[in-house]
Amino acid sequence: MKPFFPISKISKISPNMLIQPFFIDQKIKDKKPIKGLGKNYSWSSKKINQALEKDLKKGVKNFLLFIVPNQKQILPEDFSFHYDVIRDIKKQFGKDIVVLIDTCLCSITPDGHCGVSQHKKIDLQKTHYSLGVAANTYLEAGADIIAPSDMMKNTTKYLKKTFQVNGFNSAPIMSYSTKFKSNLYGPFREAAKSSPLGFDRSSYQLPVNDRDKAIKSSIDNAAQGADYLMVKPGMTSIDLINDIKSNTLLPTGVYQVSGEYASLNYLHKEKLGDYTKLLHESLLVFKRAKADFIITYGARDIVSYL
Ligand code: PBG
Ligand code: ZN
Repeated sequence: MKPFFPISKISKISPNMLIQPFFIDQKIKDKKPIKGLGKNYSWSSKKINQALEKDLKKGVKNFLLFIVPNQKQILPEDFSFHYDVIRDIKKQFGKDIVVLIDTCLCSITPDGHCGVSQHKKIDLQKTHYSLGVAANTYLEAGADIIAPSDMMKNTTKYLKKTFQVNGFNSAPIMSYSTKFKSNLYGPFREAAKSSPLGFDRSSYQLPVNDRDKAIKSSIDNAAQGADYLMVKPGMTSIDLINDIKSNTLLPTGVYQVSGEYASLNYLHKEKLGDYTKLLHESLLVFKRAKADFIITYGARDIVSYL
């Protein structure tokens, strides 16, 4: 039957639902390639604005920043490099871009864990304290959205409380609300210098084989005040997005992580598939699965193809 008015049941990606990750590394002078991630580089703070400008011209507007400082800290309190980077970006681009900041400790703790730990155990209080200092510093510098990826208990609730104390009452949180312990984070960990030492992340990241736990983690984050939810890796979370949305009524996105993105690149490199088509296909499935936004290393490559 021909409908009386246009109804589209076909999934489509729009550029404004895409988020492009970016790495800024204090140790780097110019830019450094990231193994497996194609046109993604680690940038110096001097060159980052030029790189963002290029992507903006292509039609990418949303960016998720991973800021990697030089100095490791046992109890992280000094986020001045992060502050300078964010402030410089916001000074140049203002409201033309949306700046999300990955908020975690694994690029700054000496053992690469997402929290402050002692004797192979995370100290939750110290972890929250450091994350609070970090998030509030990012907001002072002009960050638009805080994106905690640590996966510790009650981080969202703790951060929201500190925002109120500091007058950032309406500062939004995009929580990595369902994040699996995964083998697909390899290329990222090289770039973020965040490989864990001593013990793995299974005490705080989720097991892939427990559906209820995975959904509950997002519901918990919603109850703590998260404004946006996000699941990752994408391909191991496709079946969860719709249930999380109907349980929380919050916008829920998906992160196509470094390992899944790299696998598409490798198929192309080995002449076993076409990169752009592979990328488009994978993103369409996230959209079909009802993702409201998508974080992908290929955002800049796909916007002109849509
Ligand atoms: C760190 C963090 C990770 C990713 C985003 N934030 C890695 C990890 O948890 O070990 C993964 C992103 C990717 O692989 O693209 N908290
Ligand atoms: Zn981390």
